[in-house]
Amino acid sequence: MTAQNRKIRLGVLFGGRSGEHDVSLVSASSVMEALLDREEFEIIAIGLTKAGRLAGENELRAMLPDGLIGRVRLCTAIEAAGSGMKIMPNQPDDGRESDITPEIIFPLLHGTYGEDGTIQGLFEIADIPYVGCGVLASAVAMDKDVVKRLWAGEGLPVTPWITARAGDIAANPAEIRIAAEKAFGYPMFSKPANLGSSVGVRKIHDETEFNDALRDSARYDRKVLIEKGIDAREIECAILGNDDPMASVTGEVFSAGEFYDYEAKYVREESRLEIPADIDGEKAEEIRTLAVRAFRAIDGAGLARVDFFLEKVTGKIWINEINTMPGFTPISMYSKLWAAGGVPFHELVRRLVCLGKERFDERSARKTDRK
Ligand SMILES: Nc1ncnc2c1ncn2[C@@H]1O[C@H](COP(=O)(O)OP(=O)(O)OP(=O)(O)O)[C@@H](O)[C@H]1O
Ligand SMILES: [Mg+2]
Repeated sequence: MTAQNRKIRLGVLFGGRSGEHDVSLVSASSVMEALLDREEFEIIAIGLTKAGRLAGENELRAMLPDGLIGRVRLCTAIEAAGSGMKIMPNQPDDGRESDITPEIIFPLLHGTYGEDGTIQGLFEIADIPYVGCGVLASAVAMDKDVVKRLWAGEGLPVTPWITARAGDIAANPAEIRIAAEKAFGYPMFSKPANLGSSVGVRKIHDETEFNDALRDSARYDRKVLIEKGIDAREIECAILGNDDPMASVTGEVFSAGEFYDYEAKYVREESRLEIPADIDGEKAEEIRTLAVRAFRAIDGAGLARVDFFLEKVTGKIWINEINTMPGFTPISMYSKLWAAGGVPFHELVRRLVCLGKERFDERSARKTDRK
């Protein structure tokens, strides 16, 4: 094979300890399937078990759909090599080379240990290029309290909130309740600062539900956010790019439940997405501009999905959150928003890989000492 048509060796990393393990498997197999027919990529599958270990050969086969077996290379061993790491295949003696370290890794890990900067830190130390946001942007985006402080500092409209510590919730819930009632009134929402998929998110209708909701959210994190409940439509916008990011068309989420909780997201089939969102052009433009500003404020790279509330009565737009590794299947909001904008799934993946390499090359060219 000549240098021009040499395949890009892409590692796809999936699974792991997060509560979104299963979503990650679907995202990863979608990406691998979309790229298999393309001549440009050789795919190395790297799976992590629910315990966080590198999956062995049988475990890895069980994590992949049958159609992929034999068509992607399986990584079942990682060794320290110099300051980095060497990724090895399941069949080192199959006549091909034993070192199949990818040129770039696509970490399709959602939530804890994947979307929060930890795995990105490992790649940085090992000097391996990767797709998506770096350590800081990932970590900041994962912490709903920190990201709101940052956005508020930039003058971006964030849903009003109070942050309470688990220790204070246990010791003095009445004081927190009175402060929140004074600030917001009912309904309110409580949620753990660091988690996804609506796990631990509770709607609080009145004071009888307050303590229970906070205690429940505090089971998942030391920090709990109490927010003013906004009666709103939920609009999302996808971002693609590094320093000069583009915003997609907007999409709307219609939840099957009273709010978009875990059941509504993954279990109930009545939940649906509408793309483009049926909102007026000016509002859509305002949302797209805010999405880019929110992404730049965290110094994002590659991709993110920014989620908004469009308040029904006032028409006001609030930023709810940013996801740096949103669900990534062809039927996920992120990819559907780009497909609606004329970027098909395989092309989206290809662009993300290029952006990841670009970011890596930029960083490698930068000086790290005074010489
Ligand atoms: N302040 C609020 N006002 C109205 N609804 C809210 C509020 N906060 C959360 N919700 C509802 O709860 C859902 C989940 O909340 P949020 O998006 O903050 O949690 P999440 O766990 O981060 O979800 P994700 O999987 O998108 O990361 C929202 O989609 C929305 O339906
Ligand atoms: Mg959300």
